[in-house]
Amino acid sequence: MTLTLPRWFDLHTHFRQGPAVASYIKAHLDMGCAGALAMPNTQPPVSRVSGAAQADGWSIESYSAELLAAGAQTFEQLIVPLYLTRQTTAAMIREGAASGLLRACKYYPPHGTTNSEHGMPMDDLIGGEVFQAMEECGTILCIHGEQHALTGPDYIDAQHNAETRFYTERMPRLLAAHPKLRIVCEHITTRSAAEFVTAAPAHVAATITPQHLLYTLGHLIQGLKYHLYCLPIVKFQDDRAALRAAVTTAGQAKFFAGTDSAPHTTKATACGCAAGCFTGGCAPQLYAMAFEEAGVDLSGSDGQNLFERFLCLNGPAFYGFPASMQRFQMEKAASQTSLLETPAGPITPLPLGMGIQLSWRVLG
Ligand code: NCD
Ligand code: ZN
Repeated sequence: MTLTLPRWFDLHTHFRQGPAVASYIKAHLDMGCAGALAMPNTQPPVSRVSGAAQADGWSIESYSAELLAAGAQTFEQLIVPLYLTRQTTAAMIREGAASGLLRACKYYPPHGTTNSEHGMPMDDLIGGEVFQAMEECGTILCIHGEQHALTGPDYIDAQHNAETRFYTERMPRLLAAHPKLRIVCEHITTRSAAEFVTAAPAHVAATITPQHLLYTLGHLIQGLKYHLYCLPIVKFQDDRAALRAAVTTAGQAKFFAGTDSAPHTTKATACGCAAGCFTGGCAPQLYAMAFEEAGVDLSGSDGQNLFERFLCLNGPAFYGFPASMQRFQMEKAASQTSLLETPAGPITPLPLGMGIQLSWRVLG
């Protein structure tokens, strides 16, 4: 069985900074990727819109130039969101949107995930001038939707977790205060988030990663498979079922691919584990495996249409750029992943870390 699809867009990924960037971009190009939204949690963060890189922050302009020089010029689209920090102003949003450099902003819960220490609390942003300016300018808000600063017992238990709290407590307030704000709820992991997005107006959408469609907390804990440790953490079977239902609903236009592929040269250490799964080179294969596990027959046109919507069409439509006219092919055939050698060190792709084979192969 072979699928021929438009080249797809990864609307949430991490290309980092420095000499390894070219390896990460190449891994994306090799898996049929036509463009990406490259996250701004670099070191230092992407905290300005224009101008030269400075010691305390890249600008969208300077970081984009770095990525383009490292291979991203082959992409049809490259979106770098602005990291929302205490330095972000409404004037930056208005000028950035008018110049065309600013297309999206990223909310990070302070200290909630890798390189998120510059984030500011959602409560300080709701009702403020920055969100008002974004609403007026049509700038998309990309949200890492987890309540920050929870203690261990509240962070995750059987009833609630940082994400369910965020989607039931913070998001309704955000929507009420900014009814026109265009929002992407990124890497959602729970039934609460999927239901929130489904019920919200059409200008609220979501990305879902391959790992959250494939795995649950049980997979992570059984054998402590730390390569699966990413944030938000994988959740429970009922959550995974809700995510699978969301992406496999006929005609759905709100859910699309955003891998959250996040390379870490060191994952587990003596005192913790870096958060982030690397799926460069293998994401469409993993998504196809997840669709099949969700009961989708990818040999038929109905199944192929569902998959194409999620992987290739909905993301561009929401972000307002054309789907790719270029094609790539995937073949149903067993394949292995291997370490990605980079100037920063070897990176373990998620399937290798999980000890699994892929059941699809990208032909290019
Ligand atoms: C991401 C990273 O490593 O930059 N990690 C992750 O677990 N997803 C940050 C993020 O998107 O939360
Ligand atoms: Zn991410």
